[in-house]
Amino acid sequence: MRYRKKHKSSGNLRKGSKDLFTVKWENNRVVMIDQTKLPGKLVYVRYNKYEDVAKAIERLIVRGAPAIGVAAAFGMSLAAISSRAKTPNSLLKDLKIAYNRLRSTRPTAVNLVWALDQIMKQATSKSDVQDIKNSIILTSLNMATDDITINKKLGKNGAQMISNDEVILTHCNAGSLATVTYGTALGVLRAANEMGKNIRVIATETRPVMQGSRLTAFELDHYGIDFSLIPDTAVGHLMSKGTISRVIVGADRILKTGHVYNKIGTYQIAALAKRHDIPFYVAAPISTFDLTSSVDDVVIEERNKNELMRMGNKLLAPKGIKILNPAFDVTPPELIAGIITEKCVLMPPYEKSIAKNISYG
Ligand code: MRU
Repeated sequence: MRYRKKHKSSGNLRKGSKDLFTVKWENNRVVMIDQTKLPGKLVYVRYNKYEDVAKAIERLIVRGAPAIGVAAAFGMSLAAISSRAKTPNSLLKDLKIAYNRLRSTRPTAVNLVWALDQIMKQATSKSDVQDIKNSIILTSLNMATDDITINKKLGKNGAQMISNDEVILTHCNAGSLATVTYGTALGVLRAANEMGKNIRVIATETRPVMQGSRLTAFELDHYGIDFSLIPDTAVGHLMSKGTISRVIVGADRILKTGHVYNKIGTYQIAALAKRHDIPFYVAAPISTFDLTSSVDDVVIEERNKNELMRMGNKLLAPKGIKILNPAFDVTPPELIAGIITEKCVLMPPYEKSIAKNISYG
């Protein structure tokens, strides 16, 4: 099965598939898809307390770097609404407590901190209680709208590189379900589809939390994009057979050196892609860049051992054994062919292209 195989003539997006809205603001509440229920049930949960949003981020009810950034920003709006503070200073104190709680939920995706900092910047620039509250709500709403516009731009920038009949591998979920609605890596694939290019997607199952089989497969099926699900362990085999023409993944954090933090397993896919001369791309908005940290500063989230130990009630490994469960890894810049952003596609050497093109403006 070579990737040059012929497909249908002009794109394969199922017309009329409704956009999935992962996180939104409705009647002073945060509404989000409960991603732990997918693919079995498409269920929406509604929160009016920031503490519930913090728990939802920790429990992966909402996940994916841009989506948790927007969810946290909406969490700050809930904190602002529920505060009974009568003075700006006491309101800022309440907001700082919510900021710290939301920030503590997950350590690796930088969009979370970026979004929370944007909110606090707005809050501290106002001197009236109602102005602070209004500006927080407005900033979080703008962040959600911008996420869609940015991802559509990023999608187009990336899709221009894709030729007809490509087979593109993606890992984890960097789609609608990881953003407000359009996706980053999957946004590139959606844009290619919308341009009428025939593409086929290979989605890895992404153990141990299965964001590939539970979420990416659900989403690609929902949008009618032609795809096959594979076990994580099949990547090398399919690359050696010439099945895959390109890899595109999302990112949780990108350093000024071009080191990319993404879902565990990304690094080994990038190393295999290099081995087989397959271009490996990363797609991420500018809010995913961390221009100040170095590799040693970034905390890689270590998740609960039960993610490996159990599948529902079924025991998958002997009780009491030692388990390592890092949720992310680092792909070094020399394995990356390009980084697709809403501004441009960054090319190596990244230290130079990032310094020239990326700033928080
Ligand atoms: O643990 P998760 O599901 O939050 O991890 C998500 C990823 O690693 C995604 O690939 C990344 O956030 C990019 S999302 C546009």
